[in-house]
Amino acid sequence: MRLRRNPKAIPFLMENPLVVKDPEQWRGKWQTLFPNPQPLFVELGTGKGQFLAKAASLHPDKNWIGVERVEEVLLKAVQKGEATECTNIRYLWIDVKKLPEIFAPGEVSRFFLHFSDPWPKKRHTKRRLTYRVFLNMYKDILAPDGDLILKTDSEGLYTFSLEEFTEMGWEIVEQTTDLHHSPYNEHNITTEYEDKFVSQGMPIYYVRVKPPRPSSNPSLTFHSNQV
Ligand SMILES: C[S@@+](CC[C@H](N)C(=O)[O-])C[C@H]1O[C@@H](n2cnc3c(N)ncnc32)[C@H](O)[C@@H]1O
Repeated sequence: MRLRRNPKAIPFLMENPLVVKDPEQWRGKWQTLFPNPQPLFVELGTGKGQFLAKAASLHPDKNWIGVERVEEVLLKAVQKGEATECTNIRYLWIDVKKLPEIFAPGEVSRFFLHFSDPWPKKRHTKRRLTYRVFLNMYKDILAPDGDLILKTDSEGLYTFSLEEFTEMGWEIVEQTTDLHHSPYNEHNITTEYEDKFVSQGMPIYYVRVKPPRPSSNPSLTFHSNQV
């Protein structure tokens, strides 16, 4: 997402208390940053932040973090977060690539990938946020019962993501090629991009997946009667 350069964006983000400074210092301790220790839900590429602000208001029993690398876009998201006056919402001005430096294994309960850049050219495959290197990163950070939700308007990214999830051993728990005409829409919270595509009559692709766990392989399961 591109917005016109805004010279006020960087000073705003540097001073805003909802933007976590030096996020590496909270690795393994994110629960202590929020007033209540509760599951941590993280949206990757939060954009202008409509989803995160609504989700934090509707679900005060979760802690919410929006990750975004473009300062002008993040400024808009943080302003929406401020308007909610929620205490369970924070923002990280970072690239998704940095996640392992910022979250310890098992620290995140759910990742959201909402309308991630599809990078349709084959030579850009490795930039897609569902490329296997990213999936391995998410897998290491997710809690034992954690999961990931993907929503996209791009059939190409959806198909590619399903292939990557399957090849990397992720379990597909829910899936539809038309979210807004499916039972999964009941608790759906829309994003800015989603509203735009839906208003144009486009279907929204949706999938919820769980990462592979070593214990899900029966040959690796430890039984006490085996010793
Ligand atoms: C197409 S927009 C979608 C925004 C929002 N999720 C929505 O659905 O309205 C994708 C957003 O992801 C951000 N983004 C893409 N790659 C990223 C990365 N590697 N790290 C952090 N943010 C990223 C972009 O800057 C952009 O704001």
